[in-house]
Amino acid sequence: MCGIIGYVGARPCRDILFNGLRKLEYRGYDSAGISVLREGSFSLVRAVGNLDSLEALLDTVDDKASVGIAHTRWATHGVPSERNAHPHTDCSGRFAIVVNGIVENYLRLRAELVEEGHVFSSDTDAEVVAHLLERHYRGSFLSALRDAYAELQGHFTIVAMSRADPELILAVRKETPLVLGLGEGENFAASSVAAFMSHTRVAVFPRSGEFAEIRRHGIELYDEQGNPVAFEGHVVDWDEDAAEKGGFETFMLKEIYEQPTALVDTLAERVGPDGLVRLDGMGLQDELFRDASQIVIVACGTSYHAGLLGKYALERWARLPVEIDVASEFRYRDPVLDERTICIAITQSGETADTLAAMRVARHSGAHVLVVTNILGSQATREADGVLFTRAGLEIGVAATKTLLAQFLVLLLLALHVARVRGKLDEDTVIRTVNELRSVPASLARLLAGEAPAQLQELAQRYRGSPFFLYMGRNVGLPVCLEGALKLKEISYVPAESYAAGEMKHGPIALLTHGSPVVAVATDGRTYEKLVSNMQEVRARGAHVLAVASEGNEGIREVADHVVYVPATSEMVSPLLAVVPLQLFAYHVAQANGEKVDQPRNLAKTVTVE
Ligand code: G6P
Repeated sequence: MCGIIGYVGARPCRDILFNGLRKLEYRGYDSAGISVLREGSFSLVRAVGNLDSLEALLDTVDDKASVGIAHTRWATHGVPSERNAHPHTDCSGRFAIVVNGIVENYLRLRAELVEEGHVFSSDTDAEVVAHLLERHYRGSFLSALRDAYAELQGHFTIVAMSRADPELILAVRKETPLVLGLGEGENFAASSVAAFMSHTRVAVFPRSGEFAEIRRHGIELYDEQGNPVAFEGHVVDWDEDAAEKGGFETFMLKEIYEQPTALVDTLAERVGPDGLVRLDGMGLQDELFRDASQIVIVACGTSYHAGLLGKYALERWARLPVEIDVASEFRYRDPVLDERTICIAITQSGETADTLAAMRVARHSGAHVLVVTNILGSQATREADGVLFTRAGLEIGVAATKTLLAQFLVLLLLALHVARVRGKLDEDTVIRTVNELRSVPASLARLLAGEAPAQLQELAQRYRGSPFFLYMGRNVGLPVCLEGALKLKEISYVPAESYAAGEMKHGPIALLTHGSPVVAVATDGRTYEKLVSNMQEVRARGAHVLAVASEGNEGIREVADHVVYVPATSEMVSPLLAVVPLQLFAYHVAQANGEKVDQPRNLAKTVTVE
């Protein structure tokens, strides 16, 4: 949601900013704008719609300025329009600002400012920031921002310029993302490393409430009292090609094909010479898991589906009670937690507002919080007691794919480790299962290089006009189905429901008519026969069954209309393979229907508001 980039350097920055916005498109947006500063005046342009609309106006922006800020907006307060797009300025025209997030007390602040004579030119919450700077300015830009910040409630990142300080941009964050890029004679502020990765790989992650003064030759950080704060740069090892499509027609397809690599990278250094799981640097001691009374998992969206698999694995292998909830419910429902509770928060971005809030609820109740995330330096990593990184690389497609697979893997590794620590699985079983996990990237590469992708494309063509899809599965097949249905909804806008197959008779089966497509995840496992009965029941009502099954299972052809095979594995490992055909199916339905797969309507990659 909302993307920001700011630049101070020696080079003309208009195009640097615009290209930075292109790299932030994946976050989701509906309007965009740029402002650059030269010789004491701003040159500003904003446009509704995608970046092509802004690009068409770019010629009107000063192309010599070497200080500037830019923004992609995902509307919350005020419709998508030119006047609501950022940057915003104050009445005096001294300041230009961009904001990501929400200023929660903006109505009161706006009323006060209007009373004082300020004239607003947008319906946004963000514009109050520009007028607050004007209110507090006494000659020091930094002091004005500090005083403005002190009045603001909510979660937001601000990047600002002042005509009186022509070689400076200021930035501050309150919980939403901000990363600074340290270049050679130029520096950056952005919502994500992706925005400046082609210029520098050295990133600084300021804490919430730290103010950054960004100049051409350096960056300074100050706390809320104005004291300097020490910081260090982290070298980001993401592949620069991650922000390019590399020959694929969309980022999502590229990322589906990157999944074997994401698994290999996530596994690296997680297996010791003894073949056991190594979770060095996790930050939570084994004793905590040994003595834990329960685990609670919190997450949103696709990460929640990863959490469901984590629950099955931790319960089966580690014999620990596991509860799971979507973060937006968990945070408001007074969950019963104590210091023997371990809360696992799963968030690829590390910035999802509800997940962060759920982590705070857990910590407040004395629970220990472990976060599983893909983003170094993200807010979740700062607030957790321990961190397990997935190493999926930069994911641009709004619909998560490779980050999910990496989350599945990390959670299985964690469950194996906890099971061994608690004496519930012997070493041989752990070593055998770890070995199986190590073989998955090759199996997945084989799946992606085989017949399945073309078969799924054909099936998508055949069923693309269906008004409704039902997904059903049991046990670890259920999270896979939930994810498959979510992918379809997200990118193809086709209604899809996912149900535990045992629940079909309690409602969903009533939806089926002749030819209704039902996707069944029917890989080998303890509930396979039960699922076959459910497949027969839906077929008896005229539905067409598209089954995902384990290679070698020829018998399933008798109860399914179409079968997509995935390499056979043990049950708990099977979701790593079974979910991929469902990603591809959703992808091809969306493509066949001409939808914009990488930027689905109304959705954002990183949901930094509640
Ligand atoms: C958004 C994204 C989803 C993602 C969810 C949770 O809705 O579009 O792809 O699964 O947020 O994000 P997180 O970063 O917390 O995993």
